[in-house]
Amino acid sequence: MKAVVYHAPYEVRVEEVAIPRIQDPADAVVRLTSSALCGSDLHMYQGRIVPEPGLILGHEGMGVIEEVGSSVRLRKKGERVVMPAHLFCGVCVKCAEGITAECLTMRPGKVGAAFGYAGEGHYPGMQAEWVRVPYADANCVPLPGTPGDDQEDDFLMLADALVSGWHAADLARVQGTSTVAVFGAGPIGLLTVMSLLMRGAGLVFSVDYIVERLGLAQELGAIPVNFQASDPVDQIREYRKQHGIPPGEGSLDGVDAAIDAVGFQALDRSDPTVENPNQVIQDMARLVNPGGTLGIIGVYVKKDPRPTAGEGADGSLRVPWGQLFSKDVTIGMGRTNDRQYTRRMRDLVMSGRVHPGRIVTHHIPLEAAPDGYRLFAKRTDGVIKVVFHP
Ligand SMILES: NC(=O)c1ccc[n+]([C@@H]2O[C@H](COP(=O)([O-])OP(=O)(O)OC[C@H]3O[C@@H](n4cnc5c(N)ncnc54)[C@H](O)[C@@H]3O)[C@@H](O)[C@H]2O)c1
Ligand SMILES: [Zn+2]
Ligand SMILES: [Zn+2]
Repeated sequence: MKAVVYHAPYEVRVEEVAIPRIQDPADAVVRLTSSALCGSDLHMYQGRIVPEPGLILGHEGMGVIEEVGSSVRLRKKGERVVMPAHLFCGVCVKCAEGITAECLTMRPGKVGAAFGYAGEGHYPGMQAEWVRVPYADANCVPLPGTPGDDQEDDFLMLADALVSGWHAADLARVQGTSTVAVFGAGPIGLLTVMSLLMRGAGLVFSVDYIVERLGLAQELGAIPVNFQASDPVDQIREYRKQHGIPPGEGSLDGVDAAIDAVGFQALDRSDPTVENPNQVIQDMARLVNPGGTLGIIGVYVKKDPRPTAGEGADGSLRVPWGQLFSKDVTIGMGRTNDRQYTRRMRDLVMSGRVHPGRIVTHHIPLEAAPDGYRLFAKRTDGVIKVVFHP
C-alpha cells in the first residue's frame, strides 16, 4: 500500500509499504478514505519534534473496517469509522476517568500514545491506504452514511481538530456569555471559535496575521484581530472600550478567557519571520481579566531540538507568573482527551448544526502528499486544512 513516510526535516515521501494485518485479537484493520494534515504534523516536518525515520505519519483518519480480530465485540467489518488521534485502551484507570490522552496501556511504562507521531508509541499513522487500529472497540467510532458523502470532511474533523477546539474551550472553562480571545486561526483556532460560539460565548476575538484565516474566523462569527496591524492586546481593549464596558468595570476591558491555539512555534509579532515561544503566553497574560482563565491547546515540548531566540531548548519558557498570580488566573492545558468528545461532536455533526469541514481548503491525492506538506508549511494558496485521499 502507499503511505507517507518521514525521512528527515522537510522530507516526507510516499512509499510502498506492507499492508497492516491483525496482530492482536483486539485489533481492526481499516481501509482509509480520508486523512488530514495537522499543525502537529508541521512540528515534525519542520524538524522541531523529531520522529524516527521510517515512521508513517498521520493522526487524523477515517475509513471502513476491513477486518476485525477475534476479541473485537462492538465493531464489525464494513462499518464506517473515525479514529481519535490519541490511541487509548478504554479500560485502564486513566481511560476510566476519561483522561484518554494519558492512557496507561498503549505505551507501557509511559502515558499516552498517538497514531503516526514522534515519541508516541511507534504506531503507524493514517496518511496511508490502510491502518491497524489497536483496541478497535475503543478507537473506532462508528459513523453513519457512506464513504465520500457530503459529510466526509465534517466527520474527518472529529479525529482531532473539532474535538481539540472543544477541549480548548473546556481547558479555559469557558461558560456561555464569556468574552474570549483565541490566539491562532489555524484549523484548531478556527474550530475553537466554532466550539465557543456553539457553547454560547458572547464576544469571541480571533488573533492571527494570515488574512484568509482571519476572514474565515470572521465568517464563523469571531471578531478578527490582525497582529501585524498593531498590538492585539491593545486592539481588543480598544474594541471593548468602544463597544461599551459597564460602569465601574473599566478594569475588565480584557477577556474572561484566552486560548492559545498556536503553541511553542509562535511567531514574534514584531517580526513574524522569526519565532518567539513566549509571545502568545505573554500576550494572554496581559489580556486576561482578573479572575479569568487560560486554555493552552497549542503544543509545548519537553525538549526543542532547534530552539529559536536562544530559549525553550529544555521546554522552559518565560511565563509571567507574577502577573498571572496577581490576577488570580486559572490555567488549563494539555492534549485532547478525544474520547470524552468524539461521540458528542459526531452527534452534533449529524444534527446538521455544525459543519467543521468548512475549514478544509485542499483535497489532494495521497500520492501528492509531499506537495500538501510544502503548501501547508508555507501557508500559500489560502491553505487552511489539507485532506489526502488514498
Ligand atoms: N493539545 C492537543 O491535543 C492538540 C491537538 C491538535 C493540535 N494541537 C496543536 O495546536 C496548534 C495549532 O494547530 P493548527 O493545526 O491550527 O496549526 P497551524 O500551524 O495551521 O496554525 C497556527 C496558527 O497560529 C498563527 N500564529 C503564529 N504565531 C502567532 C501569534 N504570535 N499570535 C497569534 N497567532 C499566531 C499562525 O499564523 C497560524 O495561522 C499546534 O501547536 C498543534 O500542534 C494540539
Ligand atoms: Zn491533528
Ligand atoms: Zn487506557
